[in-house]
This record gives sequence, C-alpha cells and structure tokens, in this order.
Amino acid sequence: MTAPFACLIACLTLNLQPQRKALRASSAWWGQTLTVIAIVAVLAGCHKRGIDLQGPLQPGEIALLSSLSPLPPLLPDPSNAFADDERAARLGLQLFFDKRLSGNGQVACANCHEPHKYLTDGHALAAGMGQTERNSPTLLGAQWLPFLFFDGRKDSQWSQALGPLENPLEHGTDRTAVFRVILGHYRPAYESIFGAIPAVLLTNLLPEHARPVHLSSKDPLQVAWDGLAVSQQAGINRVFANVGKALAAYERKLRPQPAPLDHFVAALKAGDINGGGHLPPAALRGARLFVGQAQCISCHNGPLLTDKTFHNVGLPPTPGVDPADPGRGRGASTVLGDEFRCGLPYSDTTTCEELRFLNPKFADFAGAYKTPTLRNVAMTAPYMHSGQFKTLEQVLQFYKTLPGQASVGHRELVLRLVDPDIPTADLVAFLQALTGPLPDESWLKPEP
Ligand code: HEC
Ligand code: HEC
Repeated sequence: MTAPFACLIACLTLNLQPQRKALRASSAWWGQTLTVIAIVAVLAGCHKRGIDLQGPLQPGEIALLSSLSPLPPLLPDPSNAFADDERAARLGLQLFFDKRLSGNGQVACANCHEPHKYLTDGHALAAGMGQTERNSPTLLGAQWLPFLFFDGRKDSQWSQALGPLENPLEHGTDRTAVFRVILGHYRPAYESIFGAIPAVLLTNLLPEHARPVHLSSKDPLQVAWDGLAVSQQAGINRVFANVGKALAAYERKLRPQPAPLDHFVAALKAGDINGGGHLPPAALRGARLFVGQAQCISCHNGPLLTDKTFHNVGLPPTPGVDPADPGRGRGASTVLGDEFRCGLPYSDTTTCEELRFLNPKFADFAGAYKTPTLRNVAMTAPYMHSGQFKTLEQVLQFYKTLPGQASVGHRELVLRLVDPDIPTADLVAFLQALTGPLPDESWLKPEP
C-alpha cells in the first residue's frame, strides 16, 4: 500500500472513532479534519521517498507545523465549580505536597510528580506505599485531557486526584482519614471556599479509617464505612470530592510554557519562512519528518501533540507488569462505573459530552493507551505507560523496527508506515525542541 493511501485510511479511522463523535460538531473535529487533509496533501505532494529536507518549507508543511502551536486557552471545567477559584488552587498547592494524606505519612502527590522533574519522578514504574505497574506521566498539559490516566479511567482532573489517595500502592489512605486531615489542618481555608463542614461529621464517634471497598464486604474499611449514617457517608464523600476539586484547581496552573517550537511557529505565522531560526537544522528536518514521512502527527497532533485518544502501539511485555492488561479496554468501563464521574451528584454538571458517546466495547480499545503529550518530553524519561524505554532514541528505535507484537489486541496499522530509512536522530532533535521552562516557581513549592 502506498504511504499516502495508507495514511488516508489511518486518518479517516482516527476521525470515525465512536468516542470522538461528540466532537464532530465542534471546532476540534474540523481542526482534526483539516490536519488530515493537510497530511494527505503533504504526503501526496512533496513527501515522496527521499524528499529533500533541505529545501524551503512547502505550504502543506507550514500548515501542519502551524497546527502545533500555540496552546489554546484552557476551557472551563463545568464539572468542577471551583476549577478556576484562586483560593482553591492555593489550597490544592498545599495538599499536593502534604504527606499526611497517606497511609504511612510519607507519600504526597509531589513524590511521583516532582515539580523540578517536570512533574514526573524519573522512575520506570512509580512507587508509593507499594510498587505500581505504571510510569508517572507529567501533569503539564493534563488539564486539557478529556480522559485521565493511560487507560482513561477518569473523566476529570478532580475525580482523577481521588484515585491515588485511596490506591493502596500510592497514598494508601482513605476518604475518612482525608476528611480528618482537612478538619485538623485546613478547616478555615476549606470552609471559606466550600462552606461549613456538615454538623453530622463533627463528632468524636467517627472511625479513624473508613471507605467503600467495592470487592469486599468483609474488609475492615468497608465494615467501618457501613457503620456510618448515610448522611455521614455523603458528607465525607463531599469533602473528599472537594479535596479533588482543590487539587484540580491547582493542577490547572501547571501549564506547559512556550518551547522553541512555539517561537518557530509564531515566526512562521508572521511570514518568516525560516521560522526565525528557532529550530536548529536537525530539529527542522525532524519537524518535517514528524508532520510528513514519519506520520507522527497522525496521533501526536494539535498544540499538545496528542489526539487525546487511545492507540495500541504494540509494546512488548514488561517484566513485573501484567501482560494481559487491557488498557483502555478496561479503563472505558471503569470510568462509567465511577461514583465521582461527570453527571453524578458530586459533579457540578449533568452535561457530559465525552461520556455520552463512550462505547466501552469498542474493539480497538484492547491494549490501547492514551497518546501522551510530547510537550517537554525530553525532560520526562523514562517513556511509555510502563516506562518501557529509557531514552528518546530507544522510543524511535522501537517505532522504526516495531519488534515483536502487541501482548493484547493488535498493533495499529498506521504504525506500519514508519520507514526504516528515516533519520531518527532528526526526530529526536525535534522532540528536544518541545521543552519550555517550568511554570512560575510560586506554584512549584508549598507555602511555608
Ligand atoms: C506513587 C506515585 C504517585 C502518586 C503518589 C501520585 N501519582 Fe499521579 N500518577 C502516577 C502514575 C503511575 C500515573 C499513571 C497511572 C495510570 O495511568 O494508570 C499517574 C497519573 C496521574 C494523572 C493523569 C495524567 C494523565 O496524563 O493522564 C494526574 C493528573 C495525576 N496523576 C495527579 C496526581 C495527584 C493530584 C496526586 C495526589 C493526590 C497524585 N497524582 C499522586 C503516580 C503517582
Ligand atoms: C498510532 C498512533 C501513534 C503514532 C503514529 C505515533 N505515536 Fe507516539 N505514542 C502513541 C501512544 C499511544 C503512545 C503511548 C503508548 C503506551 O504507553 O502504551 C506513544 C508514545 C510516544 C512517546 C513516549 C512519550 C512518553 O511520555 O512516554 C514518544 C516520545 C512518541 N510516542 C513519539 C512518537 C514519534 C516521534 C512518532 C513518529 C515516528 C510517533 N510517536 C508516532 C501513539 C502514536
């Protein structure tokens, strides 16, 4: 199959995925469609094999490169009434670093999302109270994602934040213990934002630890939870959800800052065909490969360099990680069963476009994981959902040779198009031009 034809098929598939239906009527869909048309134009035109990467940029390439910058304004999050509340963000900042929110007093969000490591931890697999099976992703740019986690099992940043708190391998705490930390250490700040703590919770009779444990009615945490009045359970859930909303308000401040790519595109848009020289020659060649022959842009597109959806790139199994992990194949049903998802009582909206069209049985979800943003990617090694690769060179070597086969489901067709002759060093140089400075220092450490 010729490259342009295969790309057309791949890109149309991308557009027809049911979970993106909701976006069809929106500008995002048109944006994606224009990207597709431009990719096809580039491939059909100047990007035949052996294209001259030294000559002047072609109009199709300029159009595609321009689609990668700048970052759009952050849309409001109607599911979180406090998403853009400055006081909530300040409270969230404190909570993000607070190790009291853990079973052993040693785990904070910042353990695995270290601000000066671009909100990652540098380990292949993250560890909190125990060893997890996933790599810590950066939080810079996560505020634009409709689904969080590599398998998209959460549909908002506030509901995502509640996951690690009760995960026995991460913070290993429970919502009742979280409530106690708020009551004991943050009550004035909390009440000034979210209102008074319900009177039913101001009793000495609350257990130290209690939460629903869905698989077990005999678990002591579940037994303690069952012992609470329904109004107390609802009150604790509300405080817990608000903790997530404060953390999310904080995380919305952690935005990727302009990188050489952004300066380059700004100069292109201002009419300078050399992009102001903001990309060194190797990075410029890499940029042209990225939007052209190597077709990275068919999944890593838009200013976040992600299509925000899920693909199976067919990674080999990783030692210590369940080879049968279905990824999005499970995440899609988990999110629908989540008590803190959009549309349920702790959400501040009932309009949930992303969930409306979500079909958890969609066959292509098997073994698929979220396309990560490539912003700041040079700073966030190791790579992939289980830290399979230590360096960008290794990632590119994988894409080039595609060894083995997917341990679950099938590797996506579009990846067969990667040409073994592509100079991967140029692509790496381009990936290195996606690093911007860290956000303002005042958001990177707790207030004393
Ligand atoms: C033990 C390490 C660890 C701790 C502690 C931790 N995280 Fe994470 N975080 C991870 C890992 C690993 C993932 C990816 C897990 C997955 O996809 O299944 C993740 C994913 C995320 C994501 C999703 C990003 C994306 O691109 O989808 C956000 C947001 C996030 N964490 C925020 C937080 C917040 C807020 C806290 C504190 C309440 C926290 N994390 C605590 C390791 C940790
Ligand atoms: C079919 C869609 C698709 C295409 C095409 C694609 N990628 Fe990816 N990329 C992904 C997905 C999905 C992941 C995460 C896979 C996982 O963790 O299971 C990923 C991961 C990555 C990562 C690791 C990022 C991180 O933070 O862990 C890099 C770097 C990357 N891709 C670069 C590229 C480059 C360069 C190209 C072009 C040669 C490319 N990708 C083509 C979908 C794609």
